[in-house]
Amino acid sequence: MQIGSLKLKSNLFLSPLAGYTNLPFRLVVREVGGVGLCTTDLVNARSLLEKREKAFKLIETRPEDSPLAVQLFGSVAEEMRDAALIVEAHGAVSVDINMGCPVKKVVKIGGGSAMMTELAKTAALVRGMVNAVKIPVTAKMRLGWDDDNLTAPDLARALEDAGVAAIFVHGRTREQGFGGTVNLAGIRKVVAAIKKIPVIGNGDIVTPPAAKKMLDETGCAGVSIGRGAFYDPWIFKRTLHLLQTGELLPEESFSERVRVMCRHLDLMVEVFGEELACRMFRKVAPWYAKRFGPCHEFNKKVVQVHTKAQFHEILENYIRWRQQFLDERGELLPRFQQAPLVASFMREPDSTTRTHIPVPKGPVEVW
Ligand SMILES: Cc1cc2nc3c(=O)[nH]c(=O)nc-3n(C[C@H](O)[C@H](O)[C@H](O)COP(=O)(O)O)c2cc1C
Repeated sequence: MQIGSLKLKSNLFLSPLAGYTNLPFRLVVREVGGVGLCTTDLVNARSLLEKREKAFKLIETRPEDSPLAVQLFGSVAEEMRDAALIVEAHGAVSVDINMGCPVKKVVKIGGGSAMMTELAKTAALVRGMVNAVKIPVTAKMRLGWDDDNLTAPDLARALEDAGVAAIFVHGRTREQGFGGTVNLAGIRKVVAAIKKIPVIGNGDIVTPPAAKKMLDETGCAGVSIGRGAFYDPWIFKRTLHLLQTGELLPEESFSERVRVMCRHLDLMVEVFGEELACRMFRKVAPWYAKRFGPCHEFNKKVVQVHTKAQFHEILENYIRWRQQFLDERGELLPRFQQAPLVASFMREPDSTTRTHIPVPKGPVEVW
């Protein structure tokens, strides 16, 4: 997989999830393996120029957190250009422009999804960034504003002409929010519209077969995974294995999930300090617990966690409590096993399986 001059180990990408794709989570995903490029949460270009501490915390990185893309949002061409220079100096290997964020505060200032409706202005902004930095500039968008305005193919082509090195596209419109089905045909149209840069598909990938289906049916060069990675940080490793060998690896064991969850907390404590890390982990741990089997005892307690020691006590108590649901080999009894989530575009007609992928709470209400 190659984006401009940047060579990547796989065609699997971690999508930006504001409030979640912080340094500790990126390190977890990288340690587990399979991911080609991770992206930060979106960062306000102006906040970087104003040297705001919060913005710099968002781009905090380490040598092990590589290769890293930083995602910027903003609508003032000069600010985006100067912020891209900061990001480049900071060690990012690429800079991504947010064009698909439907949060009111982003759209209001002309960034995010609003960019999709103003082709010429957007292309000029992009050209300014491309000319300023040596690292590749990429763009992330939705399919369009609504079903009557599927602007992504035209926008992607205009951006390619302006020098963008790759396009990330979430196969939904802004109007869809996170509902309905990811439109694979819509992603395919974006692939067809561009001449040679890679298109990376995105949306609802929660299992390796879903990643493969998106690649096969859209012709995209890679896929980007957001919530699916939060739900299952091993998804990159298992998807890469499926793509390379055709074999679907079994899901991770409970003990591996617990090990990685604890490692995640340790990294959060290193990066944010114990108090803040524990507070932040209240919304992280329940995502790991989604594949633990019965987990209300854990979730109920973990949302009040204050210290690492307390977290481990909660976990030990939970492991004891969970034993009532296990067979003699220590596996969940079949009636307590949950079926994995199913991507909207993998649903069989009339299926009753869960298709709605939870949308994590965060600093933004709607993405
Ligand atoms: C809580 C949350 C935060 C998000 N933050 C960003 C962001 O900062 N920048 C961005 O381009 N997209 C953001 N997105 C959109 C995701 O990157 C991705 O396009 C979308 O969730 C669909 O992919 P998924 O189904 O794999 O999660 C966010 C989504 C969620 C749920």
